[in-house]
Amino acid sequence: MEKNIIVYFSGTGNTLHIAKHLAASMEDCKVLSIPQIIENPSLFEIPDRLGIMFPVHFQSVPFVVEYFISEILSSKKISDLGYLYVITDSTSHVKGAVHQKCAKLLSLSGVHASYYGHVIMPQNLTSHSKEDIQKIVSAADITMNHIAKDLKSENIKAASFIPLKRLTLALWTHLRNTHTNAAQYFSIDETRCTGCRRCYRTCPTNNIEMKSGSPLFLNHCIGCQSCINSCPQNAILKKNKQTNQYLLNGKHFYEEYRK
Ligand SMILES: Cc1cc2nc3c(=O)[nH]c(=O)nc-3n(C[C@H](O)[C@H](O)[C@H](O)COP(=O)(O)O)c2cc1C
Ligand code: SF4
Ligand code: SF4
Repeated sequence: MEKNIIVYFSGTGNTLHIAKHLAASMEDCKVLSIPQIIENPSLFEIPDRLGIMFPVHFQSVPFVVEYFISEILSSKKISDLGYLYVITDSTSHVKGAVHQKCAKLLSLSGVHASYYGHVIMPQNLTSHSKEDIQKIVSAADITMNHIAKDLKSENIKAASFIPLKRLTLALWTHLRNTHTNAAQYFSIDETRCTGCRRCYRTCPTNNIEMKSGSPLFLNHCIGCQSCINSCPQNAILKKNKQTNQYLLNGKHFYEEYRK
């Protein structure tokens, strides 16, 4: 059995940055991508210590993470799990119902996390200057050092609680569910697109088909920004406008989920 595994979902690189930082503070820690596990569930088996890391989407849990917990984690031998922790990231301390939603999903899968942590990272939907991104990431690194100490000692920290729990949870989940087709606002600048298929290969929900060498968006987009930010030509338009791609440490985040 593996000692330490971190599974993460990252649309634009922030969560992967956190996963790598925390993994480096542990002994022999494997870092696995949730969409890759969804494509090939045999990549993942229950370790002694498991971390689940993901960005807050609409104050809730992104669909791919929900799928991983409900369909994959629950199908494994979770009785072998010694210590489970959940680390989320978003642009502020306001986390809405994300921890409660995650706790509920875990509980339905028959498992409870001992520790919930949160890290503030740059907003990936709007543009920041390089300097602002660096400032936020440096502060995040300090938060991660505190979390790393807690995880080393296997400390316990409850999911953050918000009042009107049930109503708030339902409202945020509704908001997330009604934003499942963000790609309806996406189009392709055919003068820039080279048909390289990178957007198709990186979409965590398989929401992009290649038709006659050009991407076609289907209707189960979760708005993660992966395709937009990883396009080498910046050819994916939002509401017919080119976006300022979000680059962490000046790099295009790109992860391949299919050939
Ligand atoms: C679809 C979507 C919804 C988001 N919703 C929230 C939110 O409700 N609150 C918030 O503070 N940040 C929100 N964000 C910002 C991200 O949580 C934040 O930038 C995160 O660090 C991105 O992580 P990633 O690069 O690993 O995807 C949202 C981003 C996306 C793409
Ligand atoms: S990543 Fe960009 S250039 Fe490549 S196929 Fe997609 S839209 Fe076209
Ligand atoms: S179409 Fe783009 S924004 Fe939507 S889920 Fe796929 S990669 Fe994410």
